[in-house]
Amino acid sequence: MTSSTTGSSLGRLGLIVTLGGVISLIIMFFWSPPPKYCPLPLPRPEQNKSVESKSSLTDAEEDKPVLLIWIWPLNHKFDFSECKTMYNIDGCQLTDDRSLYSNADAVLIFHKAISWHLTNLPPSPRPPFQKWIWFHVESPTNTHKIPGLENLFNLTLSYRHDADIPVRLNLITRKKPDEEFVIPKKDKLVCWIVSNNGARSGVGTRNKYYQELSKYIQVNMFGKAYAKFLGYDEYYPTLASCKFYLSFENSIHKDYITEKMNGPLAAGTVPVVLGPPRKNYENFYPRDAFIHVNDFPDAKSLAEYLLQLDKDEEAYRRFFNWRKYLSPTPHLILKKQEFILPICTACDHIARHREYKEAHDIYEWYFN
Ligand SMILES: *[C@@H]1O[C@H](CO)[C@@H](O)[C@H](O)[C@H]1NC(C)=O
Ligand SMILES: *[C@@H]1O[C@H](CO)[C@@H](O)[C@H](O)[C@H]1NC(C)=O
Repeated sequence: MTSSTTGSSLGRLGLIVTLGGVISLIIMFFWSPPPKYCPLPLPRPEQNKSVESKSSLTDAEEDKPVLLIWIWPLNHKFDFSECKTMYNIDGCQLTDDRSLYSNADAVLIFHKAISWHLTNLPPSPRPPFQKWIWFHVESPTNTHKIPGLENLFNLTLSYRHDADIPVRLNLITRKKPDEEFVIPKKDKLVCWIVSNNGARSGVGTRNKYYQELSKYIQVNMFGKAYAKFLGYDEYYPTLASCKFYLSFENSIHKDYITEKMNGPLAAGTVPVVLGPPRKNYENFYPRDAFIHVNDFPDAKSLAEYLLQLDKDEEAYRRFFNWRKYLSPTPHLILKKQEFILPICTACDHIARHREYKEAHDIYEWYFN
């Protein structure tokens, strides 16, 4: 209790000091030399408490690289302190204040927000120490290839494993085996939540498979697309109540394995996956944690297998053996929380990597 209180007040102090530093920087930048007829702005009242007594903290804060969010993705803003509280990340100084541009060590640029004529990119010239980060978490099927971006970005932030900054909630290894994992109570066999069914997002493959599958086994459908909207607080409990969950990706690309997979794993449900090949899934998840549609010649035999597992408690239980050694992390589910993990991951990366990085052709990497 005491230490966390101290921690948070220290954090606040740090923030205040940072603010102070930032304000003085701005003042130095814009007001130097100060015109005689202009009074200097008064210090902020909060500054008063801390500035003199804690100059060491100021240094520590100023050492942290500055990560500037150029445009908030879909305007989903969050409190920067959440990187610390959710993921224990606080190695950088996050900001959305564009006046800090010339001082920013890295600038995060959200691909979908870039205008077709590139008019909303940060200004030139770019400070020589600054890295631009291409921030994009959609699959190639759902990506507009805006011309002119090829060689601007020093770093890529993506779900791709070979991105400079890969974003994924990895399974965590346990130090001690956990013998206790209890499979949640089940009252449904197969479930599927579908929120976006727009044909343009590449959902054709999964819809076709679903149609075939549903001839042989009943699938409980949820989500906007099926007029059975789930509240956020119902998401994990609903997943948990199903023996199997259809983790069907909207489009099929290497490493494009999303929260559709993480959700059921975190809830204690067996994902039935449709996406990249099984081998690709096994780079991230144990082979016996999921069922791949490609394990079967057709949807009918998959349905038969699921029905058989429904009657075989023992065999079903084996899909959870991995929980002894590994634990999943539930992902954040509110829409406005969608970009917290990628942004915090970027923060963590630039805190750890200060080395030079030449820009490379993002499209050649991304589309090939
Ligand atoms: C600033 O500090 C001085 C001296 O400690 C104190 O007298 C004053 O009330 C403080 N001002 C504010 C705005 O906190
Ligand atoms: C970022 O990439 C640009 C373009 O290749 C390059 O000029 C710049 O030096 C790079 N910056 C850093 C800090 O790596």
